[in-house]
Amino acid sequence: MYSKKVLDTFANPMNVGEIENPDGVGTVGNASCGDIMQVFLRIENDIIVDAKFKTFGCTAAIASSSIATEMIKGKTPEEALQVKNADVVEALEGLPPQKIHCSVLAEEAIAAAIADYRSKKK
Ligand code: FES
Repeated sequence: MYSKKVLDTFANPMNVGEIENPDGVGTVGNASCGDIMQVFLRIENDIIVDAKFKTFGCTAAIASSSIATEMIKGKTPEEALQVKNADVVEALEGLPPQKIHCSVLAEEAIAAAIADYRSKKK
């Protein structure tokens, strides 16, 4: 039921782990499935120079976190907020309908990490 891209990304995920003293960290969960996703950002001169994740979740959630963290590197926080779950689904060459919420989790975790970064900057 998963695309080859999802399975390959799940098997060899990029950006797994934590960033020490991150500039922004966001943790989100989905109440219905119980999955949790955490995104860490390193932001220098308003550019996301590194992004990592820790996800306790399904195949689609891990593949979504991997692709989404890769997609936002090199972007400004503003640009990263434009990366929506539909873009993650497209990059993964599709997700089954019941797994779309897993990509939403990635969008939400990034938004939460950027909100954290902005709140610390003030
Ligand atoms: Fe909930 Fe994938 S089943 S994040």
